[in-house]
Amino acid sequence: MIQKNKLRTIKEYENQDEVWSYLLLKSKNLRLTRGNKLYLDIFLSDATGMISGKIWDNAKKINDKIDVGMAVGVKAIVEEYNAKNQLNIEKIVGIKESEFADKGFSWKLLLPTTEKNVDQLWQNIQKAIENISNPFLKELVKKIYYQNKDDILKFPASMKLHHAFVGGFIEHIESVLRMGLIAIKNYEVDKDLIVTGILLHDIGKLKELSGFPNNIYTDEGNFLGHIVIGYSMIQNMIKKIDDFPEELAFKIEHIILSHQGKYEYQSPKKPAFPEAIIVHYLDELDARMNMYNQAVENDIGDNNWTSLSNYFRVPLYKKNHKENEKERK
Ligand SMILES: [Fe+2]
Ligand SMILES: [Fe+2]
Repeated sequence: MIQKNKLRTIKEYENQDEVWSYLLLKSKNLRLTRGNKLYLDIFLSDATGMISGKIWDNAKKINDKIDVGMAVGVKAIVEEYNAKNQLNIEKIVGIKESEFADKGFSWKLLLPTTEKNVDQLWQNIQKAIENISNPFLKELVKKIYYQNKDDILKFPASMKLHHAFVGGFIEHIESVLRMGLIAIKNYEVDKDLIVTGILLHDIGKLKELSGFPNNIYTDEGNFLGHIVIGYSMIQNMIKKIDDFPEELAFKIEHIILSHQGKYEYQSPKKPAFPEAIIVHYLDELDARMNMYNQAVENDIGDNNWTSLSNYFRVPLYKKNHKENEKERK
């Protein structure tokens, strides 16, 4: 049904276009119009962006045929609503990779993915683990990293907020690690504790999130959150390591519990010693920088400033960012 030469990505949509696309179904909700007619309100994404869509006809029937997390083929008209594009959907069907591969479909089109070389990131992390001199911390990180290697290479770092793409977890960790390796030259701190803290601070995200294609919160994630999940993963592993020093265990656990820095950001403790303070601020810096990039890239207007509707709640200056990006290409 879908011809390759007509396929469009979300970034290419313009108001009033009629488009054919392969998209990922992120959510679906049956709702009632004011006139009491059922319609289907859906949210779709591909590697280039996200968009909402409405299905006005046969909503109930179509709702039964499509599931969240499914790849779908969509025929729709692009309409502008509240200064954003949305899709008025005429046709939507589930797609199987085996049947549509020769019609231009691949999961890669749908999933945003890190631009970094994941193997290289993994190698940099391996090197840092090998350089940990405290045998207890080294064993702790090694065990957790090797047990979870597959997820570590693929997972996002969050659902939407920052690094929400395939490989986002490892990109974030490796970026914080590189800053940590600079910080340890600048302050008299325990290098091993900083490296271990950085590598493990978000490890609970591997269970808090489902990973792709859905990338939603798991039940465990909703009930407990990544800080508590990570704390218990680390505590369980520490119990398996003979003679793990008690104070060292408290310190690494404290870094996990305090890394988000504030009670209202779900940290039950605030950072209380230099290594914990450093992990918290470097983590925060890396997340904020990614959120800036994301806000600027998602702003489609031509002016030098973004709209107010972003995490920072101020218009962000984007001129230099766009020019740097052009130069990089
Ligand atoms: Fe975190
Ligand atoms: Fe983090």
